[in-house]
Amino acid sequence: MPEKALRMTWDEMIREELGPMVPYAPGLRASEVRERTGRSSVLKLSSNEHPTGPVPSAVAAVRKAAPHLNRYPDGSSDALERRLSERLGVAREHLVIGNGSNEILRLIAQAILRPGDEVVYAWPSFVVYPMVTQMFGGISRKVPLTSGEAHDLDAIAEAIGEDTRLVFLCNPNNPTGTVYARDAFAGFLERVPEGVLVVVDEAYFEYVTDEAYPDALDFFDGERSLVVTRTFSKIHSLAGLRVGYAVVPEALASALEKIREPFNVNMLAQAAAYHSLGEETEIARRARENADVRARVTSALWESGADVIPSEANFVYVRTERPRDVFEGLLDEGVIVRDFGTAPALRIGLPEARDTDRLTAALESVTRRLGGI
Ligand SMILES: Cc1ncc(COP(=O)(O)O)c(C=O)c1O
Repeated sequence: MPEKALRMTWDEMIREELGPMVPYAPGLRASEVRERTGRSSVLKLSSNEHPTGPVPSAVAAVRKAAPHLNRYPDGSSDALERRLSERLGVAREHLVIGNGSNEILRLIAQAILRPGDEVVYAWPSFVVYPMVTQMFGGISRKVPLTSGEAHDLDAIAEAIGEDTRLVFLCNPNNPTGTVYARDAFAGFLERVPEGVLVVVDEAYFEYVTDEAYPDALDFFDGERSLVVTRTFSKIHSLAGLRVGYAVVPEALASALEKIREPFNVNMLAQAAAYHSLGEETEIARRARENADVRARVTSALWESGADVIPSEANFVYVRTERPRDVFEGLLDEGVIVRDFGTAPALRIGLPEARDTDRLTAALESVTRRLGGI
């Protein structure tokens, strides 16, 4: 019997990069909070989900597909990919569809990173960037956000060094909701060397109303090292099905095709996303409703003296010295928000228009009880 294998411990068997990693921690579930507070209805505003269900045509498509679940899904997501290609005006060779955009972020890191390669991104930002960096042996170079909690594209460009292979930009940024402007992005791209892949994560793209916001697809020409990722988990309300997509240069698309799971996008997700893509009027209405609720919640917080950051997404970021107290206070009111444990801040997802008063009343009540947020 091979001697070495006989003596191996779990620590030796599992890749050492995984040692310091911590699993992704989701927010509290609504059922846990219902049990804990005894309330029959809670507002779950902790995971940046869209507050209403999927469009009816997507639900109908899921019902229609369900009896066929004995079969594997279409491994090439053909219908969905065609529709995406038409909608985005992007050739199919440049499209990658994933089990959530999360899967695509991971596949990109897997395809690009070798141990010791550097990955630059703003911080705080989406927790998956450090995770995919670490799991493939990369080294994170975190660039602090500006005092206004926005990406500092100059500092990010300066942080790019010889060993940098990947840059993640999150626009709007999760968790702060801020965006960078078109001019700044154009200038930034000029400064990035060809051998560095820039991944622009536009998970909250559809919610943006700021006219200076750059649609990163406008900068995609198939040649430059640029990827744009988006998702059906947010404004399309399909988080539970897991489906996202990316526009990528062809060589990278071929690489990702080799390492993805054979049937990575399930049958129900393909059907629902296909139909939801066809509901442009409803998606535009949702964006307007979100902008309206965002303005109401932001001014309520502002008026109560809270340090709220203007957001372009479906959540707002509130800086507070006592995040735990505010988090617990809101839980008592039946409102679940996101407490990061590390940052002196909370992220509050936006509810439906009809629940806005409930959220602002809960915030007021906590402000009164704590003497400020
Ligand atoms: C910035 C950002 N990117 C990507 C994702 C992942 O989305 P998906 O559900 O498509 O995996 C999220 C989810 O919260 C996110 O906030």
